[in-house]
Amino acid sequence: MHRKGFIFDLDGVIVDTAKYHFLAWKNLAKNLGFDFTEAQNEQLKGVSRADSLQKILNWGNTSVSEAKFQELMTLKNTEYLGYIDKMDDSEILVDVPRVLDFLKANNQGISLGSASKNARKILEKVHLLPKFDAIVDGNDVSKAKPDPEVFLIAAKAVNCKPEDCIVFEDSVAGVEAANLANMISIGIGSKDVLHEADYIFKDFSEISEAFITELINK
Ligand code: BG6
Ligand code: MG
Repeated sequence: MHRKGFIFDLDGVIVDTAKYHFLAWKNLAKNLGFDFTEAQNEQLKGVSRADSLQKILNWGNTSVSEAKFQELMTLKNTEYLGYIDKMDDSEILVDVPRVLDFLKANNQGISLGSASKNARKILEKVHLLPKFDAIVDGNDVSKAKPDPEVFLIAAKAVNCKPEDCIVFEDSVAGVEAANLANMISIGIGSKDVLHEADYIFKDFSEISEAFITELINK
């Protein structure tokens, strides 16, 4: 049996935290005097916290000082963490534990490759932290997706070459990062959005053990 590296994005792949990012960003925009829509929130998937704030300020035709920018990021994150604090196992997306357990039973490398600086906290809240051999998140990278840095570090952390890695991603930027890293990209979500991925599934319930075995033996 071969040993591959399976790298999971967090937000939108393991848990649906986009709704909490939305609530916190919407509140921030409201306090600055403009609206923030769900369609705009969609465009922030996979985008780092700082880049998200910059986009939101641009949409609101607003600019702030560097000090205010830092203050707004802290404010947003404090509200976001309030929602995260209430999370539990019921928020794990369908069949994620089944796939993680199957990979573990087959001695595969399991890494997290997320843009979030809150990744460890979220995995702790939903009790999935022990399932990962390595966690690579927003605290470990200097370049945001679509730069492949996060996935290259995640591959190294489980002693796998990039071409022996498979990435699960829900964002366009993340799929692009996986492709640039020379890894197999698996889009989780809509075929219309994630068409650059090597494979696309609605969610993990569509991912069979036979398919995973095929990836392992590739
Ligand atoms: C990504 C999310 O996973 O993490 C983005 O898709 C988010 O919406 C980014 O902005 C950074 O997250 P955090 O938790 O560090 O603010
Ligand atoms: Mg994501």
